[in-house]
Amino acid sequence: MITHTFTVAYSEFSGITNLDEPDRNLLNKAWEASESAYAPYSRFNVGAALALENGMVFKGNNQENGAYPSGICAERVAVFAASASCPGVPIKSIAVVARTEVFDLANPVTPCGACRQVISEYETLSGQPIRIILQGSSDKIWIFDGIENLLPFMFYGEKLKK
Ligand code: THU
Repeated sequence: MITHTFTVAYSEFSGITNLDEPDRNLLNKAWEASESAYAPYSRFNVGAALALENGMVFKGNNQENGAYPSGICAERVAVFAASASCPGVPIKSIAVVARTEVFDLANPVTPCGACRQVISEYETLSGQPIRIILQGSSDKIWIFDGIENLLPFMFYGEKLKK
């Protein structure tokens, strides 16, 4: 038997003022997006903003539905909007934030499994790591350079292409 150890890495910052300007701008846009989330059921507002290599920024927020599984996360709204309007243009970075009055979010919100998988598809397509910037309701900010740090042993759909 062999035990393998897998390491993931991320950086932690305290407060938005400690970020570089592009990260700071994107995080602010994610906060803006969170204000128009449609989350009447969970009251958990998530905002996402992503920067494309061509300079365009796309925003998304969670869109819930009375038939719960029909809703969709903020990250996927942003990523699919970007791919729909600018197919094939690499995503440089995505910022994701969340706020709720229901409980305390001391740690940054981390994308759900389905969103990680979706982000991984576009990272694989472009061949460039996507920078993922996360914040909750505290000053703490986490930055992951590449989805592999959030989704180890990811499934590569590329292999399905005939
Ligand atoms: N949600 C997101 O938008 N992104 C995530 O990464 C986690 C969860 C949304 C889905 C749902 O509207 C609410 O947050 C509670 O799960």
